[in-house]
Amino acid sequence: MKTQLNGFTLAYSDKGAGLPIVFLHAFPLNRTMWRAQEEALSSQFRIITIDLRGYGESDAPPGHHTLDQAAEDVRTLLDHLAIQQAVLVGLSMGGYILFAFYRKYANRVKALVLADTRAQADTVEGKEGRLQMAQVAYQKGSSAIADIMIPKLLSPATIRTKPEIVQMVRTMIEGNRVSGITADLMAMAERPDSIPLLTQITCPTQVIVGELDQATPPSDAKLMAEQIPRARLAIIPNAAHLANFEQPDMFTRIVRSFVLDLAEERNC
Ligand code: MLT
Repeated sequence: MKTQLNGFTLAYSDKGAGLPIVFLHAFPLNRTMWRAQEEALSSQFRIITIDLRGYGESDAPPGHHTLDQAAEDVRTLLDHLAIQQAVLVGLSMGGYILFAFYRKYANRVKALVLADTRAQADTVEGKEGRLQMAQVAYQKGSSAIADIMIPKLLSPATIRTKPEIVQMVRTMIEGNRVSGITADLMAMAERPDSIPLLTQITCPTQVIVGELDQATPPSDAKLMAEQIPRARLAIIPNAAHLANFEQPDMFTRIVRSFVLDLAEERNC
């Protein structure tokens, strides 16, 4: 499905009925990275997956862009779909956007799932790395970005033994426009430190991380789970950064069990 909002066309999928769960994808992928979760959970819940601005079938509006704008896009889509509150799931960059969303719209959040993400801002070296990657994207295109990102997203064992998974990730990355990729590299470099926000998160929160994640390692996940009041932490074995893609069944089980338990917990 597509809708015009905030001056561009945003693509999303909306399947199932019941409690809405909104999934925000990682950099530089698209909403199809959530296909396994969508298939498994849409018989029980309303599953919404979004191509964030710049990715997949959404437009890449020209010019400077920020993670606050991406959060605003999510809020506008919730309004468009007449959803007052949702469970929000974000993996990596999706998690950074959830922090931006929570800062402004905590009342729209029923619960958070922060997967393979981190609360810290980029270091100086991290920002420099983003600039270098943006140059590679301009000069060599999205397939060079796939070459750089695949070893960061997937575990060595998956890369060695599961060529179909590697190919799916490559196809997602290569399908994105360079302008979307570079805009988000700059947006991620500019994002603020969200550590001070953690103790103020009052909704039920599930933190998930792949045990082999080197991009946002288990130590980052433990820090979030320690600081966010009553947060849960799940560490998924044999998964790296793209834990939902490498271990889809376990990832889905964790999300399902968290959401089913929400009825007994207090909301935001
Ligand atoms: C992602 O998976 O979204 C990226 O690895 C996030 C990042 O580069 O910080």
